[in-house]
Amino acid sequence: MSSTAPLSEKSPENLTAYVNGDFVALENATVHIEDRGFQFADGVYEVVACIHGHFLDLGPHLDRLQRSCAAIDVAMPCARAQLEELIAETWQRNPFDDAMIYIQITRGAAPRAHLAPDTLTPTLIITSRELPRPSDEKLACGASGITLEDFRWKRCDIKSIALLASIMGKQEAHRQAADEAFWTDADGHVLEGSSTNILAVIDGKLVTHPLDHQVLGGITRSMTLDLARKAGIAVEERPWTLDESGLSECMLTSTTNAVLPVCSMNGKAVGNGKPGPLTGKLRQLMLAAMEDLRRT
Ligand code: PDD
Repeated sequence: MSSTAPLSEKSPENLTAYVNGDFVALENATVHIEDRGFQFADGVYEVVACIHGHFLDLGPHLDRLQRSCAAIDVAMPCARAQLEELIAETWQRNPFDDAMIYIQITRGAAPRAHLAPDTLTPTLIITSRELPRPSDEKLACGASGITLEDFRWKRCDIKSIALLASIMGKQEAHRQAADEAFWTDADGHVLEGSSTNILAVIDGKLVTHPLDHQVLGGITRSMTLDLARKAGIAVEERPWTLDESGLSECMLTSTTNAVLPVCSMNGKAVGNGKPGPLTGKLRQLMLAAMEDLRRT
């Protein structure tokens, strides 16, 4: 089926991916078995939402991608304007009304050795799929979380494809019938989720861990903080714990969830156990920003 097939007929069999210079059927899209992404997780990635053909905060996502590449000393595979064109074309070939664009850059392919030759050509892949959304049930009742003491590395600010710890966190959350595992430091400060940031409402203020090596600077996190400030809600970026008095709400943020209430943690209710008013307001503000994009 051609790439112009109606969206309703788009399925994994007829999606198109960008791989190292070519657009190919997703099912035939491959990279070398000695790609360093495959052998060493030597790469970085981004996930960007696209609403009716308009990318949500593409600039900050590409800034973060550039920072991640610079941090691991991998050159961007092409100029930024060209990358933007490739991203747009990937969406045009898989034009879901609400799409999730995945961009991955690895150091490239070479015979396996920890120290890579500095002559490698980076691998670039881009896909566009339907943007997953939280279920109505999750929106109505909130997500559930567990906490785990952080056993990841000390550069969580890099959006690395080395996600084994995150997968183990998600598996443990699933075993405990929860939706997300949230990492805590040795003093019990809540850092972020396996694939999300987390914010709390404490004494009416929106509180979240400051940006450092223990958290990814989520694009949705910054959007949420901006929306809160504009709405006159006080924001504090500081370490916080779940047992602080005055904690009434928790919410997670990510590209695929926007703002989602977290109503239980380790089997105990957060606040009154129901999605809270500030979370609801911030989610509405975020959805309104997305709808504005749809109308542009
Ligand atoms: N995850 N923290 C971690 C560890 C993440 O993996 C993510 C995103 C976030 C939220 O970032 P953003 O708001 O920019 O999506 C925070 C993506 C969506 C993923 O791995 O699929």
